[in-house]
Amino acid sequence: MKTKKIHFYSIILSGIFVFIFIAGCKNNKRETIFSDKMTELKIDSILSLMTLEEKIGQMTLFTSDWDVTGPTMQSGYKENIRRGRVGAIFNAYGVRYVRDMQRLAVDSTRLHIPLMFGYDVIHGYKSIFPIPLGEAASWDMEAIEKSARIAAIEASAEGLNWTFAPMVDIARDPRWGRISEGAGEDPYLGSMIAKARVKGFQNNDLAANNTLLACAKHYVAYGAAIAGRDYNTVDISDRTLRETYLPPFHAAVEAGVGTIMSAFNEINGIPATGNRYTLRVILKDEWKFQGFVVTDYTSINEMVPHGIVANEKEAGELALNAGVDMDMQGAVYNNYLSGSIKEGKVDIKFVDDAVRRILRMKYALGLFDDPYRYCDEQREKELVMSKDNLEFARKIAKKSIVLLKNKGHLLPLRKETGVIAVIGPLADNKKELIGSWSAAGDYNKCITLLKGIERKVAPETKIIYSKGCNIDDDSTTRFDEAIAAARQADVVIVAVGEGAWMSGEAASRSSLRIPGVQEDLVKRIYETGKPVVVVLMNGRPLTIAWMDSYIPAILETWFLGTMAGDAIADVLFGDYNPSGKLPVSFPRSIGQVPLYYNFKNTGRPISESKWTSKYLDMPNTPLYPFGYGLSYTDFKYSEITLSDSVMNMNGTLKISVTVANTGQKEGEETVQLYIRDMVASITRPVKELKGFRKISLKPGESRQVDFEILAKDLMFYDSEMKLIAESGEFKVFVGTDSENTKKAGFVLK
Ligand code: NOJ
Repeated sequence: MKTKKIHFYSIILSGIFVFIFIAGCKNNKRETIFSDKMTELKIDSILSLMTLEEKIGQMTLFTSDWDVTGPTMQSGYKENIRRGRVGAIFNAYGVRYVRDMQRLAVDSTRLHIPLMFGYDVIHGYKSIFPIPLGEAASWDMEAIEKSARIAAIEASAEGLNWTFAPMVDIARDPRWGRISEGAGEDPYLGSMIAKARVKGFQNNDLAANNTLLACAKHYVAYGAAIAGRDYNTVDISDRTLRETYLPPFHAAVEAGVGTIMSAFNEINGIPATGNRYTLRVILKDEWKFQGFVVTDYTSINEMVPHGIVANEKEAGELALNAGVDMDMQGAVYNNYLSGSIKEGKVDIKFVDDAVRRILRMKYALGLFDDPYRYCDEQREKELVMSKDNLEFARKIAKKSIVLLKNKGHLLPLRKETGVIAVIGPLADNKKELIGSWSAAGDYNKCITLLKGIERKVAPETKIIYSKGCNIDDDSTTRFDEAIAAARQADVVIVAVGEGAWMSGEAASRSSLRIPGVQEDLVKRIYETGKPVVVVLMNGRPLTIAWMDSYIPAILETWFLGTMAGDAIADVLFGDYNPSGKLPVSFPRSIGQVPLYYNFKNTGRPISESKWTSKYLDMPNTPLYPFGYGLSYTDFKYSEITLSDSVMNMNGTLKISVTVANTGQKEGEETVQLYIRDMVASITRPVKELKGFRKISLKPGESRQVDFEILAKDLMFYDSEMKLIAESGEFKVFVGTDSENTKKAGFVLK
């Protein structure tokens, strides 16, 4: 019955298409990266059949009543679908549900236009991978792409075709909880990761039924919220916007991302959702973005409290004129837009353009060929949380771990260690491991650290577990038991950090301390004199200066997802040699925030002299710099060799170093390339990441690593905001992190 119906509709639509095609040929419609000429003509034909209400319906996205990812719910969303007043649904999944909703749209509406189904598939769908900041620490683009790929395969097998990811906001203030959702502080690394994630979700083939339409968010500068408080004001120069916050979005657009989400924040007095400059001028005109812009959750409505419009109707007008195509959950377009058009407050051409962009993506997804193409119970059963996916979850979790300290080679531990005490509120905790935004993930499926250790050690090894305290309260009543456990042990592993709820959206903190009494617990355990390994779990850089001074071994494990416990045990016991590098600086104290490696030199760079740019009470440097991470082996860098000491504007420069594994274990190293433009018409940062290579070396092995740079890699925005490269002296740095590098220089002519 169902197939027959679809068949019938396609015949009618095809007839109309032929007619419009002939008429449209004169129109000379251009193809886009998402569509060919024929598709654009088909869209013309649909547009010509649509009423204004139906058009506005396509521009509307509603949440289901399953899940809450924002402050409002819509009652009666099903009725809205039936009336053709909805273009897409989010916050629901599963083949049965999606099929039912799709049927409602396709069968009940006049034009039978299928819905899209979106969800926040951020770091895995049901097989949960490390939080994005954690994955970024892998510096492994192939693994990051694969993580998004698997998430897309699982989610699309459960009926979804759109994810609100990747989150590509640069974040330099760890108080901001959403730092956990992105790729850290650097625009270059952030851009590479943005590309990898878009590629992973979309796989350059939206028409396949195992890919998801991606959505780069939150456009733009959301991470620059004053004081790290979520949703707060952003006051930013055009230069910082273009140099730091826009590049990952541009990279996502270049990688073919199909949608962009407009952010909650204002940018220099104009909310991002009503910002014509960022949306229409930069995104749509300058970058020629051909997908569509969706708002964040009710961010059109929020322009009223922002104080830029008097009411929701005006908010809708501002948004549409600025370039917003789809209203997430606010119902502003649905409620007011037809009135605004009739009054001439917005031009119908913006509505047509928005609907065209939305239909273009529906065509690209193949929904007009088969609206039920993501609805196959068999695929759902076979593909979700498969053995291979979980194996990969463990692999990428291992790669995301950063070894922060390893004094006296305490790690790796011997599997035959006599007695191991496993202590801490995160040691046997499943709930926090999947982090925030864990989609359809079930934390009950997580492998805890305790479990991972139990599975790893020799049968005769004795493990004593004690929780020690809670994550976030003042009670020390369990301390004695934990200390007694530590006293009996040969080595103590303490798992401390944040709860998953402490990062992500609406989760800013005014402190970067490990919450509650956890640090006191670590201090008391340290006082037993036993060797202590701290395993950190957290969604942001924490201030751990005390631990860095006293605790011999520290592992940063973020929130690693479903297979966390096994992955951490792999590293603790040496089955995997840690290779993660920090994608964000770890400050010594919150007073240094915002702190990032590519700062400017100032006119009074820090020195012994009093009158320089520094703090009285602590160094300017972070506790652990951007790019930092240790290994169980040692890598030695040769001096840098340059192909020439002079580079021409249209030439290339080859930069080489030889890296040797001088330790005892096979290991991976991320070789990082930074440059500095010494004198320019606009002051430049003291270092800027321009490339990196992740290599694997056996003990005793060495390899030459080559980078190539072109003048375009040395460009910056001049005083007129034009991209240029200026001749003059440059420094080149290659090394193991942003501070520890070899140095050379060349002249650009
Ligand atoms: C609000 C969040 O800011 C955004 O990241 C998310 O995609 C939407 N809600 C939808 O859940």
